[in-house]
Amino acid sequence: MVIAIDGPAASGKGTLARRIAARFGCAHLDTGQLYRAVGMAVLRADKDPADAAFAALAARALKPDDAILADPELRSDGAAQAASKVAAVPEVRRALLDFQRSFAARPPGGAAGAVLDGRDIGTVVCPDADAKLYVTASVEVRAQRRLKELRERGIPAIPDAVLEDMKARDARDSQRAVAPLKPAGDAFVLDTSAMTADEAFEAAVAFIASATGSAAAR
Ligand code: CDP
Repeated sequence: MVIAIDGPAASGKGTLARRIAARFGCAHLDTGQLYRAVGMAVLRADKDPADAAFAALAARALKPDDAILADPELRSDGAAQAASKVAAVPEVRRALLDFQRSFAARPPGGAAGAVLDGRDIGTVVCPDADAKLYVTASVEVRAQRRLKELRERGIPAIPDAVLEDMKARDARDSQRAVAPLKPAGDAFVLDTSAMTADEAFEAAVAFIASATGSAAAR
C-alpha cells in the first residue's frame, strides 16, 4: 500500500503523515528532508543552491543512511530556502526520484506499506498510489503555525518575515517548470485552515480507509 501526501509548507502534512503511517503500519518518508539535505550540502560547500551542476552532484551522492538526513539543522529556514532552490533543478529531482520510488516499492523494516509526504508524490513520484491526499491551509494560517513552531523551539522570528518567506517558497514551489506543487487530479483535498490536527487526522484516516478498503481505520 502506498499513500501519497502532498501540500505547501507548514500545511501540517508532516505531522499528519507520521500519524497516518503509525495507524496503518507503514514506513514514512519525509521527502522534504531529502531536498533540505541537498540544499544544506550545497551551502556547506560554500556553493550557490541555484548552481545546477553542483546541486545535482550533491543529490546523486545522497544515500539512505547519510548522517545529514538526521541533522537538526535541516529544519532551519536557511535549509528550507536552499531546499526550494535545489528543488527547481531538474537533475536534482531526477536523482532523488529513484531514492523515493525504491522506498515506496520496498518499505524498510518489512512494513506493509509506505507513506511519502512532499510536493509531487501523487503527481510524479507515485502516480499509482493507493490513496492521495493534498493537505493545505491559507498562507496566513500556515505562517502562524510556522511562527508557533519556531517560537516553541526558541528561535526568534518576526511575523511579517515568516509570512513573506512562506509566500516566496509557495511561489517558487508552484511556479517551477518541473513537478510544480499542485494537487493530483484524483487527490482528496483537505483544507485544514479551520481544523485542529486531530480533526485533520480523523478526516484523512476516513478517506484512506475508504480508498484502500483498509481495516486499520479504527
Ligand atoms: O516542512 P515544510 O513543508 O516547510 O518543507 P519541506 O516539506 O521540508 O520541503 C522543503 C522544500 O523542498 C520545499 O519548499 C520544496 O521546494 C522542496 N520539496 C520538493 O520540491 N518536492 C518534494 N517532494 C518535497 C520537498
